Amino acid sequence: MSRLPLLSLLVFPLLALSLALYAQSSLATFATASPFGFKLPLAVSTFVTFVQAQIQAPFSTGQQNTDELSTHQSPEKVVDVESNGHADARAPYSRHIIAVGDIHGDFDNAQKVLQMAGVVDENNEWSGKVDVFVQTGDVIDRGDDTIDLFRWFDELREQAEAVGGIMLTHLGNHEIMNAIGDWRYVYPAEIESFGGVAARQKVLSSGWLGKAWATNYTVASRLPLHPSLGPPNTDYPPSNTSPHQKANTGPLSHAAFAFVHGGLAPTYPDLVPFPSAINNLGSSLLHKLRKRAPQPPPHPPNAYPGLPAGSTREEVRLYGSDGPLWYRGWAESEEAKICSQIDEVLQKTGTRRMIMGHTPNFEHVVSRCEGKAIIIDTGISHAYGGVLSALSITYNLIPVKGGGWKEQEIVKALYSEADDELVIEVERDLVEDLW
Ligand SMILES: *[C@@H]1O[C@H](CO)[C@@H](O)[C@H](O)[C@H]1NC(C)=O
Repeated sequence: MSRLPLLSLLVFPLLALSLALYAQSSLATFATASPFGFKLPLAVSTFVTFVQAQIQAPFSTGQQNTDELSTHQSPEKVVDVESNGHADARAPYSRHIIAVGDIHGDFDNAQKVLQMAGVVDENNEWSGKVDVFVQTGDVIDRGDDTIDLFRWFDELREQAEAVGGIMLTHLGNHEIMNAIGDWRYVYPAEIESFGGVAARQKVLSSGWLGKAWATNYTVASRLPLHPSLGPPNTDYPPSNTSPHQKANTGPLSHAAFAFVHGGLAPTYPDLVPFPSAINNLGSSLLHKLRKRAPQPPPHPPNAYPGLPAGSTREEVRLYGSDGPLWYRGWAESEEAKICSQIDEVLQKTGTRRMIMGHTPNFEHVVSRCEGKAIIIDTGISHAYGGVLSALSITYNLIPVKGGGWKEQEIVKALYSEADDELVIEVERDLVEDLW
C-alpha cells in the first residue's frame, strides 16, 4: 500500500469508513493519482475535495445505470452495482495486445517474432508482458513445423490463462483447405512428420488438431479494448439481455478491433451479429469437414474434394472469395474505393479497426484508410523470406480529474531488424458516462 491511502486512513477515519465500501476502486485511484498531478504533501482541502469526488463518482454511475436505485441510494446497493463488473469504475485501465500474421509452417521465425514482441520469454513460454496475443490464421502449409506450432500454441494458451492472459487464434483459408483435403501447399516432409497421409487426415479431423481448431480457433474475433464492453467475442450489436448492452451502445461502443484472416467484405451478407454470425458458420462448416467419413483422398494427386455435399449456402459463401477467409479487397483495392466502404463495415461490426493477414507485403505492415484496415502478413515464413513483424496495440483509458476520461490508442508495427513504425496514434476526450 502506498503512503497516500495510508495517510487517508489515519487522518480521515470517518471518510475511510465509508470509503471502505469501495475499497478497491478508491484505493486504486489514489494509488495512481500522482500521474494526474497530485503531489505529496497534499493540501488538506484539496485532499478532502478529492475524497468527496471519489465517493460521489460511483454514486453517479450507479444512478445512471439503474433507475430503481435512483431514489433509494444506499452504499451497499451501489457497491453491488459497482462490483458487478465495474469495481474499478474510475481507475485507469491499460491493455497491451500483440497480433501476428501468417506463420506458414516456420517455427523458428514464429519464435523469433513472439520473442521480439515480448509475447514469450527466451524459453518460448508465455512472458506475461502482453495481455492478449492474437494470431490471424495460416499457421499451416508451406513449411513442415505444423505439429510444433500448434502444440506450442496449445501450451501458450494454458500458460496465458493461468496468469489472466488471453490468446485469440484464428482459422485461415489454409487451415480450412487442409480440413477439406486441398493439400496443394502441404510439404511432403510435413506429411511425414504426421506419419503419412492417413495419420495426418486423422489428426486434422477427429484427432487433437481437429479438436483444437473446433474448440479454440475461430474465423473472426471482436476484441473489446475495455472490459466494460465484455470479454473477447462479445457480439455487436449487443442483445438486449447482454450484461454489456449499455457499454456496447455508449461512447465506447466501437472501442474494439476486428481480427480475421482475409477480411470482412462490404458485400459479405453474414457480418452481424459480429462475430458470432461468422463464427457459427465457421464451426458448422468445420464440423461437417471433420465428420466426413471416410475423409476424401487429398488433392493432389486426387481430384479436388470441395466442400461437403450437405454444406449450406451460407457455409459455401463463408468460404467464398468475398468471405472472411479469402477476401483481399482491403489489401488490394484502391484507397479511394475502400476508404469509402470501410466505415460502414466497422460501424456494423462495432469495431474501430480491422486487422488481417492473408495478403503479404514482404517489407512492412500495411495500414490503409488511416489505420482502419491493417494488413499484418509480412511473409514471415522462410517460404517467403519477408520481414519478421508483429503489430503492437496499446490502449489506455485514464480518468480525468473532475470528470470524463482520456482515451489513447497507440498502434505500432514492430520489426526484428528495423525500428518500430507508428501505424496510428489517437487520443480522444470522453465526457459522457461510459457504462
Ligand atoms: C482449448 O484450450 C484450453 C485452454 O484454454 C485447453 O485446456 C483445451 O485443452 C483446448 N482444447 C483443445 C481441444 O485443444
